[in-house]
Amino acid sequence: MRKLLRVAAVLVVFALVLSGCGGGGGGSGDSGDVTQGMDRKIVMGYSQIGAESEWRTACTNSVQAAAKEWNIDLRFSDAQQQQQNQLQAIRTFIQQKVDIIAFTPVVETGWEAILKECLDAGIPTICVDRSIEGSDRASSNPSDMSDPDNWFTAFIGSNMEDEGNRAAAWMMANVASIKPGKSVYNIAELQGTVGSSAMTGRFKGFRDALGIPAAQALGTSSDGKYSIILSQTGDFTRAQGKQVMEAFLKSNPNDIDVLFAHNDDMAIGAIQAVEEAGKVPSKDIIIIGVDAVKGAFEAMVAGTMNASIECNPLLGPQVMETAVKILNGQTVEKWVLSNESDYDQSNAAEAYPTRQY
Ligand code: AHR
Repeated sequence: MRKLLRVAAVLVVFALVLSGCGGGGGGSGDSGDVTQGMDRKIVMGYSQIGAESEWRTACTNSVQAAAKEWNIDLRFSDAQQQQQNQLQAIRTFIQQKVDIIAFTPVVETGWEAILKECLDAGIPTICVDRSIEGSDRASSNPSDMSDPDNWFTAFIGSNMEDEGNRAAAWMMANVASIKPGKSVYNIAELQGTVGSSAMTGRFKGFRDALGIPAAQALGTSSDGKYSIILSQTGDFTRAQGKQVMEAFLKSNPNDIDVLFAHNDDMAIGAIQAVEEAGKVPSKDIIIIGVDAVKGAFEAMVAGTMNASIECNPLLGPQVMETAVKILNGQTVEKWVLSNESDYDQSNAAEAYPTRQY
């Protein structure tokens, strides 16, 4: 009997030791769930920026669904577009000793201190969708702590500059057939949230393709055929896209040939403004957006929007896979790129039924 009790005691101690040695932090303590070799669920703190667009909602849904699929305990926080709220959420995640933190930086600047706090706490971080200033999302000398690329472990998302480039390329290839006989095409631009990498990247990429200096809000292309005559932020929302387009149309009722909106929500808001001003969207004013959300497909099929450059929000599975790899000590790419295409009225109807967001 005494022998049996001794064996039982040894087994209890062994079980207690095992339950204390998984993962990197305090976590959920749910030792019944095993994820990729850990003796409990991985705990991920996730700071999302808000719910400003159809795209963002799709991104949030993707992250939440993927966390369930990967059996990851997701602590999700919505910052309502405020960087302060993100900093607070990340600090709370550090105090909670989560295993890993993923976040979408609402703007590019102001992340050094908090990311260094994560590093000091031994918590890896993943930037999702938007990046931080000074980062080229490539591996660099890991001991150079002045390089922002060393403040986070991985970046998962799109090439925003490339999206601006593709929007300009679509415009240059198509304007002449939609509005023939013009020697100069005037462009109005609706910028995204000022200071976000989605805005700065698309702004720069669009100008680069036209040969306009990236520091210039307004200007004419190197070949003299395209002129950005208006450029203002609509903060990535439908309401502000409409409001700013109304103001554009009031100040320049007959001059705008093309609208380049940094996202589809603003483009859809602007389409309403164009219609209310008695003009025909996609004919009088060519409408180009970014994201390729369902709303844009509906507008392209209805013939009110011309093109949308895809920016893939379905990042959840890549985020979870990357997190598990990092926590298992595997090497991950510094920049995990998403796959994207471009859509216009020629292929929108065919692609629409397959769209997931
Ligand atoms: O950062 C991605 C951008 O943010 C999307 O293009 C936009 O719709 C969103 O709000």
